[in-house]
Amino acid sequence: MTNPSLLILAGDGIGPEVMAEVRKIIDWYGARRGVTFDVSEDLVGGCAYDKHGTPLHDDTMAKAQDVDAVLLGAVGGPKYDNLDFSVKPERGLLRLRKEMDLYANLRPAQCFDALADFSSLKKDVVAGLDIMIVRELTSGVYFGEPRGIFKEGNERVGINTQRYTESEIERVARSAFELARKRGNKLCSMEKANVMESGVLWREVVQRIGDTEYPDVELSHMYADAGAMQLTRWPKQFDVIVTDNLFGDLLSDLAAMLTGSLGMLPSASLGAPMANGRPKALYEPVHGSAPDIAGQGKANPIACVLSFAMALRYSFDMGTEADRLEKAVEEVLADGLRTADLMGPEGGAHVTTSQMGDAIVAALNASL
Ligand code: IPM
Ligand code: MG
Repeated sequence: MTNPSLLILAGDGIGPEVMAEVRKIIDWYGARRGVTFDVSEDLVGGCAYDKHGTPLHDDTMAKAQDVDAVLLGAVGGPKYDNLDFSVKPERGLLRLRKEMDLYANLRPAQCFDALADFSSLKKDVVAGLDIMIVRELTSGVYFGEPRGIFKEGNERVGINTQRYTESEIERVARSAFELARKRGNKLCSMEKANVMESGVLWREVVQRIGDTEYPDVELSHMYADAGAMQLTRWPKQFDVIVTDNLFGDLLSDLAAMLTGSLGMLPSASLGAPMANGRPKALYEPVHGSAPDIAGQGKANPIACVLSFAMALRYSFDMGTEADRLEKAVEEVLADGLRTADLMGPEGGAHVTTSQMGDAIVAALNASL
């Protein structure tokens, strides 16, 4: 049997630092669990632009199509702010998502007990929170045509188009229903059917998939603005949320912050199964490249580490090992270890990015 293959695209800003900690964990799995990954590395984002004049080289794109899973750090930085839109670092990420057809973006928002005080909300609102946002990732206003800045008489007009086909809604709805079945069996779908036709269609299609294929899953619908309000009021009412690309972008940042730190949250972007049965997959932290703290040992590697845990679970069918890694993270937090982003009023032991990675590896060792 061939080893599972991983393409690492560490990217910009804190990406390489947090990825270095994931490398320690990948190595640990090779040394201690006999799971050797074939790891290759390449560039994406600003660093790829610096070298190749494009945020994602065609060769890198081809490699991404060829591996079992891609693990990405973060892209972007102020240095690239004035670049033409077509070569901005973010375009590299968007191209990966689009060409790999990664339509289902899983963004869990989980509140670790040790960090419940960290949220800007009251502790009882967030303690024990465990929700999953499924964001449609390859369509909607991010990709719809026409798009651009056009001349209209004496002024310019900026245009983007929200567009969803029935089959695009169906497939992401199925992903969300399947996840709901494995969790609390509850799905809430969010759109703006009160103002957008794409929202009307979204609601209709999700309801039909629910009625015909998943009658056992409790399905509800909410307008996305009300959903944002309910997420801040009482987030524990939700289990799985399914929503479109743009609403999902906003709602997942909101949900992430409920848990106290963006530095904690992983994500998985999944597409259709490949010939070997594994889904096309890309894993990345929800946080960005944080150029303001890059290179200072301040970054929290946990979101990236937990993204690798999601890879173990969703790409490599290693749920028990994913549980082990998630538990190791919980333990170091319970022990009071805190990277700079987690230094709240309650104190704790201030550790660097690399010390946090080492502590997680030590907790993994202790788990054997
Ligand atoms: C995200 C990010 C991206 C998005 C950017 C970096 C293109 O905000 O993954 O949520 O808007 O999808
Ligand atoms: Mg975002």
